Amino acid sequence: MCGIVGKVSTKPCVEFLINGLKRLEYRGYDSAGIAVIQNNEITRIRSLGKVANLEAEVAAFDLEKASVGIAHTRWATHGEPSVENAHPHKSGNIAIVHNGIIENYLELRKELEKEGYNFESTTDTEVAVHFIHHALKTSKSPVEALLKASRTFHGAYAIAMIDSQIADKMYVIRSGSPLVIGVGENENYISSDSLSLGHLTEEFIYLEEGDVAEITLNTITVYNNEGDLVKREIQHENLQVDHADKGDFDHYMLKEIYEQPHVVQTTIERLMPQGSTLAQAVSRQHAAIFSKTKRVQIVACGSSYHVGLVAAEWFEQIAGIATKVDIASEYRYRRQMVDNDTLFLTISQSGETADTLAALRKAQTLGYVATMAVCNVAHSSLVRESDVSFLTAAGAEVSVASTKAFTTQMVTLLQLVLALAMHRGAPELKGVDTELLFADLSEHIELALKTAEQIKNIAGDFKDKNHALFLGRGELFPIAMEGALKLKEISYIHAEAYPAGELKHGPLALVDENMPVITMINHDELLMEKLISNLNEVITRGGKLYAIIDEALAPKFNLPAKKIIVPAIKHEHLAPLTYNIPLQLLSYYVALEKGENIDQPRNLAKSVTVE
Ligand code: F6R
Repeated sequence: MCGIVGKVSTKPCVEFLINGLKRLEYRGYDSAGIAVIQNNEITRIRSLGKVANLEAEVAAFDLEKASVGIAHTRWATHGEPSVENAHPHKSGNIAIVHNGIIENYLELRKELEKEGYNFESTTDTEVAVHFIHHALKTSKSPVEALLKASRTFHGAYAIAMIDSQIADKMYVIRSGSPLVIGVGENENYISSDSLSLGHLTEEFIYLEEGDVAEITLNTITVYNNEGDLVKREIQHENLQVDHADKGDFDHYMLKEIYEQPHVVQTTIERLMPQGSTLAQAVSRQHAAIFSKTKRVQIVACGSSYHVGLVAAEWFEQIAGIATKVDIASEYRYRRQMVDNDTLFLTISQSGETADTLAALRKAQTLGYVATMAVCNVAHSSLVRESDVSFLTAAGAEVSVASTKAFTTQMVTLLQLVLALAMHRGAPELKGVDTELLFADLSEHIELALKTAEQIKNIAGDFKDKNHALFLGRGELFPIAMEGALKLKEISYIHAEAYPAGELKHGPLALVDENMPVITMINHDELLMEKLISNLNEVITRGGKLYAIIDEALAPKFNLPAKKIIVPAIKHEHLAPLTYNIPLQLLSYYVALEKGENIDQPRNLAKSVTVE
């Protein structure tokens, strides 16, 4: 979604703001802008498109004396991408940047129009800035005006404000959208994502819901939504990430795909440090939760939802635990019938996805055994608000299309399922050596990456296609869904996923020579046999078949298909982890053939912090 950075310093702030926006650009890239205070006046510069456009415009200004400023990169929600709609928005002496959505903005806009405010944009943010400006007239301090705003605004928001008449301070407010303060030496920073400040500081203050903060060079004063002065602890974190460096890769997506063997190993070792067992990883708190758990409810969005579907198969097949999976935006508005022996589990890369957070907050009122999160960001709202969490070790994922985060989520969930199965003494686990299962997983993923050459050879077949069909069965069906999502996201080819057995119940009507069909061949003998008869139906209709198949099975598969051969796996339950790799490569190389903007696909942004 959108990105916010800001700084209070004695040194010029413009370079920091532009670099900060570049680090956040993957979160939104429709338009960008900065507002700085110089000589007790606000200078605002905004431009359409990439941060590079803004940088070029800013270069024409002399802003050497500006040491306090805020900046924003936008992913349009209210109002099309345009300069007028770009942030910062101004009202009198003040300027604000804003992430999130103020849901009651139309009603507030009408009231403000009656008060004589004129609007230049169609955004909710311009309503917010005029509201705060109006509130300042009757408030003793900016903090009081911001508290009035937070009591009036509905929705989720993080707002940063500067006032040209209070030239040494910056104010922030957050509710529902992330905002972090970075503690510097004789300067302080703000950002919607701590990773963008990791090169400047290792000290962060994570604001809580409804907090307002006043920030100067050397002080950070925080008030809760009642207006009481509160202490928020400084968290120490080393978040150094070299965002600027794609290494030898042309795109972050490819770099992140190739990081998978390493981050899979790091994720395995996060729970099972070398030489230790999964049983040792289970804390007393986990054990107490596991003892009460008879069912699991998983909630997530997008790729994380697909991981949830794979995990549900594992929970049922390996641990014998009935599991439901729901899309967070559906779960939060549906009546839930909760059995009091159910564990509530969220999965999220960012830990800031608005729908997943809302689902968690709803779940907290429904009597689950506990709330548990699988997440990639240690200090995210999801982790902070869940009873327990398991962290993946994917590192920063910059490409909008998730790859390494997806794979590491599956690794962590497999560990969690196995730990729970062991705790229950699940008979399904008999004969499975849990430690051995992970022993050479990262090498298998490395080998799966070698399919890149085969994938490059077939990517051209997809270039001019408008549709594609992905088929899988069992735990490979969610992998087919993820493959279809990836192709849609970055290649803009319409793709659907089906469990192969469903084909003849409708989608077979679509199959002809223009419909490539990508299928994953299961390890399970029975499923493979059934799948082959489903695939014969495709071939009979002239469909072009591409089969992802394990090298041990390949000789037994004689259908006329282009085969993409992945390494033989040790256990059928590991198949989602290796079969997923060629599908990531397929979407990448098809998008490359088409010349698309792979890391920043149209209409999308990383981390969906609005509903
Ligand atoms: C797809 C993708 C999205 C996210 C979804 C949830 O490549 O990245 O579908 O998976 O927006 O995000 P998180 O996992 O941050 O909650």
